[in-house]
Amino acid sequence: MAMTTLEEKFVHDLGDIYDAEHRFLEAQREMMQQAKATELKTMIREHIAQTEEQIRNLDQVYQTIGAKAKRVKCDAANGLVIEGQKGMKEAADQPALLDCVIANTAAKVEHYEIATYRGLITLCEGLGQSSVLNLLVQNLQQEEQTAQRVEQSLPQLVQKVSKQRAVAR
Ligand SMILES: [Fe+2]
Repeated sequence: MAMTTLEEKFVHDLGDIYDAEHRFLEAQREMMQQAKATELKTMIREHIAQTEEQIRNLDQVYQTIGAKAKRVKCDAANGLVIEGQKGMKEAADQPALLDCVIANTAAKVEHYEIATYRGLITLCEGLGQSSVLNLLVQNLQQEEQTAQRVEQSLPQLVQKVSKQRAVAR
């Protein structure tokens, strides 16, 4: 379907992130099961709860603008999930390395979400749709905090792998 207006782009992008959040929710459940480091596991568990809240926020955005909530297949989210699953499979025999794969996948996912929410917020402001702005900003802030948290955890996870390698030598 052709896209001709900013309103259509807004609804399209909303459907895109609505689909992405659902895909990432599933993927995070898988990641949480496979993660070994307690801190990483906790971080993912907390973000699963936030993701559920974010989906509810998006439902509310749809309600407010008077549109039916509809997932629009997000190929980018699908690709990120597939890429993460491949990495987890490949590192399955190395728990510490597996944690690095999971944390890095989570960071990529968060940055995709951040870019999408920022775009939606800009569109929203341009369209004068201030009624849903708060809900989108709430989601964006949670993604930003999670991205920061997960990125800060990565050096320690990487160090764990290099220490193990030093011992094995
Ligand atoms: Fe997220």
